[in-house]
Amino acid sequence: MTVLVTGGAGFIGSHFVLRHVAQNPDDTLIVLDTLTYAADKSFLDPVIQRIRFIEGDIADVEILEQIASRYGIDTIVNFAAETHVDRSIKNIVPFIHSNILGVQALVELLKRHPEILLLHVSTDEVYGDLKDSDAPFDLQSPLNPSSPYSATKAAGDLLLRASARTFGIRARITRCTNNYGPHQDTSKLLPVIITSALAGKKIPIYGEGKQKRDWLYVTDHTDAIEKVLTDGEDGKIYLVSADDERANIDVAMTVLDVLGKSHDLISFVEDRPGHDWRYALDNSSVRKLGWKPAVSFAKGVEETVAWFRRKSTAR
Ligand SMILES: NC(=O)c1ccc[n+]([C@@H]2O[C@H](COP(=O)([O-])OP(=O)(O)OC[C@H]3O[C@@H](n4cnc5c(N)ncnc54)[C@H](O)[C@@H]3O)[C@@H](O)[C@H]2O)c1
Repeated sequence: MTVLVTGGAGFIGSHFVLRHVAQNPDDTLIVLDTLTYAADKSFLDPVIQRIRFIEGDIADVEILEQIASRYGIDTIVNFAAETHVDRSIKNIVPFIHSNILGVQALVELLKRHPEILLLHVSTDEVYGDLKDSDAPFDLQSPLNPSSPYSATKAAGDLLLRASARTFGIRARITRCTNNYGPHQDTSKLLPVIITSALAGKKIPIYGEGKQKRDWLYVTDHTDAIEKVLTDGEDGKIYLVSADDERANIDVAMTVLDVLGKSHDLISFVEDRPGHDWRYALDNSSVRKLGWKPAVSFAKGVEETVAWFRRKSTAR
């Protein structure tokens, strides 16, 4: 198989690349990434001799076409996106570019190459948020995004679904909950908690920290994507979650306990405008494929803290 991984130098994409190369040594793997602030090409160092890395934009159909004609792509896994909600509140333009026009460019490529399968990685945030008493979102839940970021992700998903129906292109969508693990950009919640705590600095927590997220260890997510690639069906959507809901404040306290630091480091700051209250997904669509999460929150936090600790002492 020849697999194009877009956004493969970012957080989740880099884990997918490392694991896929280890588990499928005969595949040819190409990474396309514009190397934004969230990317770090050195994440791919362990496999860089075994993959092809191309710096470029998914919204550029000509680059996509050159890659497809040169390498004969079987599958595209699209991780490329602008992903930070706070940045989308400040400036939506890059989000429209990567998350909507980028998906549109992939659709154009697939119209020319209908044999290529696209797995598009999306988010639970397209559904908006839940009250504490609500059942988790499922495949029947309407899209109801509440941030500029999630609106662009929902637009990308809709474009893809409409194009699958109109043009018969091959696409599968996965939507997942909050990922955590090594390689995540330091502006995201868990890295902020860990890096602040390691530096002995105050940890900023929005509002009262009672917002709940379902925490999914990054390699459990990439394993679910592999399952959808091998056993999923074209045109279907798969919801990936670990069934492990935790309030942000509890996550901060767990990290502080792992590091042996005082809970007094937690500092409540003004809430994000439009901040979603709770996310949770019904993951039966991926469980039916035989996937289940393998990494407990305690183990995942330990691994993540250890990685950020090594990173801070390597400087
Ligand atoms: N991190 C999470 O908790 C989470 C949760 C749900 C869904 N997702 C989705 O998973 C995917 C990957 O998320 P992540 O956390 O790894 O993001 P990330 O921000 O860490 O990485 C995104 C990568 O995409 C690249 N990129 C951005 N725009 C590009 C473009 N136009 N062309 C080529 N490359 C481009 C960046 O350089 C970066 O390497 C995204 O689609 C995101 O919406 C993430």
